[in-house]
Amino acid sequence: MLNARTVGAVCVALVMIAGTGRSLVMAQAAKKKAAPKAAGGPAPTAEEVASAEEIYKTKCAVCHTLEGNSPIPNMNFADGAWLHGSTVKDVVNTISNGIQGTAMMPFKTQFSEGEIAALARKVRSFDPKLK
Ligand code: HEC
Repeated sequence: MLNARTVGAVCVALVMIAGTGRSLVMAQAAKKKAAPKAAGGPAPTAEEVASAEEIYKTKCAVCHTLEGNSPIPNMNFADGAWLHGSTVKDVVNTISNGIQGTAMMPFKTQFSEGEIAALARKVRSFDPKLK
């Protein structure tokens, strides 16, 4: 039989279910906020890292040397001086768009975003001062 008491209990139960649902959604939203995309894009995959190693050797080392320590300061990655910014984001931008008016050409049409992200991490790794 439906009496005021059972209706009341059902209502309380419904409010509790609705409340749990809401807090779950809110917890998920909070999680998304707590883990923003790493600056410079998501970390590259193992394949992209391997591919970047090959690309560096075949396409970049001619100008930048295998150790990244070119005697020409503007092309040196190891001396701690970054003319075009040293964050992952800056270096991704330099590799993607090149530096107008110099031999540093844009590479965004040649390599995937992930490969460029891995290349940026690779060239930064030549600088012992960068983490
Ligand atoms: C034909 C020669 C050449 C090739 C090939 C080349 N670069 Fe460069 N790169 C340059 C020059 C020259 C500069 C310096 C530009 C300037 O004077 O600002 C430079 C600058 C850079 C910089 C900026 C350094 C700073 O101090 O901010 C990055 C990063 C870079 N190159 C990455 C790469 C990567 C990665 C590749 C391979 C995909 C590559 N380059 C291939 C010539 C080259």
